[in-house]
Amino acid sequence: MKKQRVLTGITTTGTPHLGNYVGAIRPAIEASQDADNQSFYFLADYHALIKCQDPEQVHQSTLEIAATWLALGLNTDNVVFYRQSDIVEIPELTWLLTCQTAKGLMNRAHAYKAAVDANRDDGQDSDFGINMGLYSYPILMAADILMFNANKVPVGKDQIQHIEMARDIAARFNHHYGEHFALPEAVVDDHVSVLQGLDGRKMSKSYGNTIPLFLPEKKLKKHINKIKTNLLEPGEPKDADTSTVFQIWQAFATPEQTAEMRQAFADGIAWGEAKKQLFELINGQVGEARERYEALLANPAQIEAELEKGAEKARAYSAPFLAKLREAVGIRKIA
Ligand code: TRP
Repeated sequence: MKKQRVLTGITTTGTPHLGNYVGAIRPAIEASQDADNQSFYFLADYHALIKCQDPEQVHQSTLEIAATWLALGLNTDNVVFYRQSDIVEIPELTWLLTCQTAKGLMNRAHAYKAAVDANRDDGQDSDFGINMGLYSYPILMAADILMFNANKVPVGKDQIQHIEMARDIAARFNHHYGEHFALPEAVVDDHVSVLQGLDGRKMSKSYGNTIPLFLPEKKLKKHINKIKTNLLEPGEPKDADTSTVFQIWQAFATPEQTAEMRQAFADGIAWGEAKKQLFELINGQVGEARERYEALLANPAQIEAELEKGAEKARAYSAPFLAKLREAVGIRKIA
């Protein structure tokens, strides 16, 4: 059987948090160990420029995300781990695809439509503050995927539309220029938990309710203590299913530990005690990786070398493929 090619990108804005870990990083690292897959993971730094125009932040986030994945044991001999901007063929493919993308398709993109709606609600011009990066974002994402002919693209629900657009764009290109692209499929894993944040809403940078993954021990403890609870006293039974503390516990615990904690809630465990145990559980699981993370941040040259190795492997696919695509569209040497 031919190996399935799995590809996913991580936009380099912000610091990885527990929600990213449980929802995306942990499953991706596990999938990378499956010998039936050939995985491509990349840092989407061109995507970052759409919403973040602070150069230091883009750079720092790229460093932190790369260090995080490496510290958590991503095996870069087994997967292709690279930085989008190192693949010079991607922006070029973006243009070839742009010329096969209906404008009307981009008009329907959720992220763009949401920005237009927000402007209308504020009584602004509908284009206010919207750059062409946001508008064309799905084409860049299609190029990321089609450049490597990925079959499966693990993403969150909010990204499904973009994968469908990549399929549309690929089909149109194929129809016009011949069968060059595999049609990618989104993979949304319903078993992967969407973690709740400090305030009980989805853990997300945009809500400011995250627990960064590699906080120093003391700060991790402090953050966990800030998780919102109700006013029930020690000894009073507590409802596990509506508790953020329990929800996060579940994402890290074994089924046995989860059953034990559910019982402890019914038996009226004190919030302080439940949080202390949650801290110990998480700290136990991330402690070693945190040491590797700190060592990597102190040695950025090692991270850079990994990314350059990844870029070289990625370009072994992208360079000959783009040459073929240029030929197909008629961009050729005269003689
Ligand atoms: N847009 C994705 C996100 O915000 C990140 C991303 C960029 C991506 N390119 C991709 C994901 C290609 C999958 C495939 O989460």
